[in-house]
Amino acid sequence: MTTLNRLDLEALWMPFTANRQFKQAPRLLARAQGMEYFTPEGRRVLDGVAGLWCVNAGHGREEITAAVTRQLATMDYAPQFQMGHPPGFALATELAALMPAGLDRVFFTNSGSESVDTALKIAIAYHRCRGDGARMRLIGRERGYHGVGFGGISVGGIVANRRMWSANLIPGVDHLRHTHDLARNAYSRGQPTHGAELADDLERLVALHDASTIAAVIVEPIAGSTGVLLPPQGYLERLRAICDAHGILLIFDEVITGFGRTGAPFAAQEFAVTPDMITMAKGLTNGCVPMGAVAVKQSIHDAFMQGPPGAIELFHGYTYSAHPLACAAGLATLDIYRREGLLTRAKSLAKRWEDAVHGLRGRPHVIDTRNYGLIAGIELEPRPGKPGARAFDVFLDCFERGLLIRTTGDTIALSPPLIIEPAHIDEMFGRLAEALARVA
Ligand SMILES: Cc1ncc(COP(=O)(O)O)c(C=O)c1O
Repeated sequence: MTTLNRLDLEALWMPFTANRQFKQAPRLLARAQGMEYFTPEGRRVLDGVAGLWCVNAGHGREEITAAVTRQLATMDYAPQFQMGHPPGFALATELAALMPAGLDRVFFTNSGSESVDTALKIAIAYHRCRGDGARMRLIGRERGYHGVGFGGISVGGIVANRRMWSANLIPGVDHLRHTHDLARNAYSRGQPTHGAELADDLERLVALHDASTIAAVIVEPIAGSTGVLLPPQGYLERLRAICDAHGILLIFDEVITGFGRTGAPFAAQEFAVTPDMITMAKGLTNGCVPMGAVAVKQSIHDAFMQGPPGAIELFHGYTYSAHPLACAAGLATLDIYRREGLLTRAKSLAKRWEDAVHGLRGRPHVIDTRNYGLIAGIELEPRPGKPGARAFDVFLDCFERGLLIRTTGDTIALSPPLIIEPAHIDEMFGRLAEALARVA
């Protein structure tokens, strides 16, 4: 610790962090460039997770710095309620062009959590606008992560949230079973073979609740936060078909899969399944300025455009929706993605990445390796009675030796910046293999 002492750490209540443990032995990052972070002492740390699945174009992009600086000097803030500004419209237009055909209306938020809550509210309001107001039920999935708002934790399937806030979750929510099945799918390369039939859970919930009460289903095409869970072959297609059969909206939460992570701009395109709404954040601004968005089918948007012309059609929005700095960062980011081909670059590296991921098979404690695009999940055997402890020790070991990874439970999740080169892949997996050998 070169710049902070123990007292300086106390005021900050850190998110999703073991605060007391962290403050005993802090891990600090001070600077970032390209594929790397640097600690305050100047020690290099290779970024295996694009910050937190967000810095897809790599760190320290001068074009984004210049665009945000320019915008800050030109107009720092402007309200979006009953007012507009050119960067907001420009970013929405560019984003709409990246989306699967038909999802060409964009609502801006400031985070993935807000995008999720926005999409859930739009889904319920959409049915009501069409005179189908009984459709209020929302369906999520076990092991789903949709951020930390009350809507997101309600449709999410994370036990810690459900334990702590069980009495406060929004009513009328049910869950599909998750698709993670090591007994049948361990060591899958790409989409697992088994499990498409798990989508039929939706038919079961329709039979239980009746389709006329169900507004929407929300899933992550690839679940990241609960351990990199890939959709079985045919699963998303089946979910789409069942939603269509019953008039249920399908929402893909692409907060981590958006912006090139899978090898296509969005996982919806990669898996050739078009949802009715896509939630996004993170890579939208390369992580530089907080921003999220919901892309919506035009038909959903148009259902709201009724009533007297002076009426506000959707009673929803954020002070910082389409914040000018975020829009400037977003426009510069999309420009980089386009110029450097980053939204499809994962495809050209996917085989090399896949071979590196599966090269860890047989290493100590490894019980599964799985991958898609530039995503990897390496699942470890938990220590008896201490879930998550082994993977966390691997995380600590990697950080000490210059590699930033992320762990969730006993799964190591990797999602590097999309500018990664083969030499980085070799370095990353070499270090990880050494860490696995060292950690008991
Ligand atoms: C799928 C998914 N949805 C929502 C979120 C929440 O995003 P945020 O932390 O920006 O609120 C995340 C964050 O990792 C996510 O992975």
